[in-house]
Amino acid sequence: MLRQSRTENDLKILLTILACVIVGVLGFIGFIYSGIYDVSALHPDNAIVAWALHTTSDHSVDARLGGIIVPPGLDKPEMILAGGHRFAKNCVVCHGGPGLKRTNIAQGLNPQPPNLFLATRKPWKEEMFRFIKYGVKMTAMPAFGKTHTDEQIWELVAFLSKAPGMSPEDFAALTGISVPKPAEAKPAGG
Ligand code: HEC
Repeated sequence: MLRQSRTENDLKILLTILACVIVGVLGFIGFIYSGIYDVSALHPDNAIVAWALHTTSDHSVDARLGGIIVPPGLDKPEMILAGGHRFAKNCVVCHGGPGLKRTNIAQGLNPQPPNLFLATRKPWKEEMFRFIKYGVKMTAMPAFGKTHTDEQIWELVAFLSKAPGMSPEDFAALTGISVPKPAEAKPAGG
């Protein structure tokens, strides 16, 4: 008798859990089809979504750094120069550079591409390699592993390792991009 009512109780609990799961799944599907969530890039994500995306992305990248071994020679001037030219071709439109005005594309992105030249940045080579090779889903950061060899990606890492606090003159010399001197910049609206 006692054993039977226990089995009944277990069954009830199981059915309740199942009902909750079904309601949850239907609610989630309903949310997807409802159009309630605004995917426009004009307004930043709300704080919870922004936190969830960034935390997922940071932990995903950091969890996959294990097999990445920094090759020797990243300090060689020719490696840094090659990376600078690759940066000019592939990255500057979003990440900008010292002395450059931010492009319309960079201003319109959400999440915003980080400024890789901030003096306070601490470049972490393995992590940069991972970001550049594999990109980041649901952000504008492309995976350059489709078009670049590992060696070419290490050239970019070599350049970016020198990026924090880089002067506009050094940036211009390493990338081949001509950076307007502040004195030459036209006044706004002029
Ligand atoms: C179309 C825009 C776009 C282009 C082009 C682009 N990036 Fe990014 N990049 C982003 C965005 C957006 C992020 C931020 C991703 C995030 O929020 O997780 C990012 C993140 C990064 C990061 C991680 C920075 C950090 O703070 O942890 C590195 C390193 C990076 N990009 C390097 C590059 C390099 C090198 C290139 C060129 C080979 C490049 N990116 C091209 C948009 C771009």
